[in-house]
Amino acid sequence: MPPKPISNFKSWEDRTISLVPSPSNFASDDEPVLEIWGQHPLSGFVPVSGAKNSALVILAGAILCPDDCRIRNVPYLADVDRMVQILTALGVKVRRNKDALEINASHVEHSKAPYELVSQLRASFFAIGPILARLGVARIPLPGGCAIGARPVDLHVRGLQAMGADIQIDHGMVNATTRRGRRLQGAKIYLDYPSVGATETLMMAATLAEGETVLENTAQEPEVVDLANFCRAMGAKIRGAGTNTITISGVPSLHSTDYSIIPDRIEAGTFLVAGAITRSEIVVGPVVPDHLTPLLAKLQAIGVQILPEGPNRLRALPKAEIYSATDVETLPYPGFPTDMQAQLMALLTLCEGDSVVSETVFENRLRHVAELNRMGADIRVKGNNALVRGVPFLSGAPVLATDLRASAALVLAGLAARGKTTISGLHHLDRGYEKLEQKLSQLGAKLKRVYPDGRVAETPMPVVSKS
Ligand code: UD1
Repeated sequence: MPPKPISNFKSWEDRTISLVPSPSNFASDDEPVLEIWGQHPLSGFVPVSGAKNSALVILAGAILCPDDCRIRNVPYLADVDRMVQILTALGVKVRRNKDALEINASHVEHSKAPYELVSQLRASFFAIGPILARLGVARIPLPGGCAIGARPVDLHVRGLQAMGADIQIDHGMVNATTRRGRRLQGAKIYLDYPSVGATETLMMAATLAEGETVLENTAQEPEVVDLANFCRAMGAKIRGAGTNTITISGVPSLHSTDYSIIPDRIEAGTFLVAGAITRSEIVVGPVVPDHLTPLLAKLQAIGVQILPEGPNRLRALPKAEIYSATDVETLPYPGFPTDMQAQLMALLTLCEGDSVVSETVFENRLRHVAELNRMGADIRVKGNNALVRGVPFLSGAPVLATDLRASAALVLAGLAARGKTTISGLHHLDRGYEKLEQKLSQLGAKLKRVYPDGRVAETPMPVVSKS
């Protein structure tokens, strides 16, 4: 039983959160589950993989290049596998060589991406920009992705139209062509919202457009900068990535490159919270500390000390005897990342006092609340705000992962909880965390992936992207 509320918060209505998952979130009977025995201290160093969101969009960006490209530090993830399958369906040749993907897009034979794949991976829609720029025609189904909101693609579509594309949406398919076989045309485009995906789609499309494109109110996320650096390494002329205005001078073609992806700031952040929530001292790296500034500020406010360990590692150790509550609002970068909201909330459940978590980026990204409450957390939701009242402890329970970052939050809660937590719906976790169980086990966590009949299961490794 959670302890008595620490304070009244009467202006907030309780909202009943359904514990019944949507059909796509039902764990199948034969899908393995993750069992975690909580309250084991962690220690040591944990390696951080390449950034998932960079890898996905840079793979799409490789379509722009008619020569061989090598992309290094690509994580082994189900989402990366799906993107590779989409490239392969378009006629692109992809081979994995350890952590590198070797890509040859000299013959992009098809302009149509398969629905079954695009519907499982929203980022694959971002390939519309490079396919259209390269071939003058692109047919991409409207995307799917995490169940965290409607996630329209209107900004992508309007931007491409401003660059001279004809776009028809029929039967769930976005059909885009350049006028009379011409190249896309440079344009001045203001984004109503600094969408990461729309910034990336339009930046990629503009690299091969005729003339100059100015994108205003752009996303400033590190993954946008990583994509811009990759495109520049192929000869694209891009200025201003990482600010709110990006200028691209189109070039007729791009060339071969060898490029290494930045470390995953969300994976690194998840491990830092793992250290904090288990009150352990751990070292995380490689990281770009600047990419983690908003999270580090919150961890410090809670009572976690963060120390640099050389240029690209961070040491996290508990400083305060009792962690303190803190409010957090998700925002486009450099604000607090929506992709860390669920994981930070897991930590806030164990901080003394009331924390208000406001999700402003997505409209349906608090579904982990119901599952955290099953573990003894005291969280109430109204709209896109959650009031988290600190409790002295969490209790292990069977819980269901509802999306990628929600599943990470449940793992973190399980590491801190008394007793055993069993997480189902692991396909969400496998989309975005490379070898999570192995990495946590090496830190000292007690967890294993098992089938419902008790047999130990392997962490799935991608099939398509193996060499
Ligand atoms: C990317 C990340 C995702 C992260 C998100 C926000 C990838 C593969 N995924 O997703 O992990 O959570 O950024 O940091 O990089 N929107 C529109 N119209 C559009 C596009 C977006 O209304 O045309 C809205 C979305 O519904 C959402 C908000 O804008 O509410 C932010 O979305 P966006 O920044 O585009 O996120 P993604 O690129 O999909």
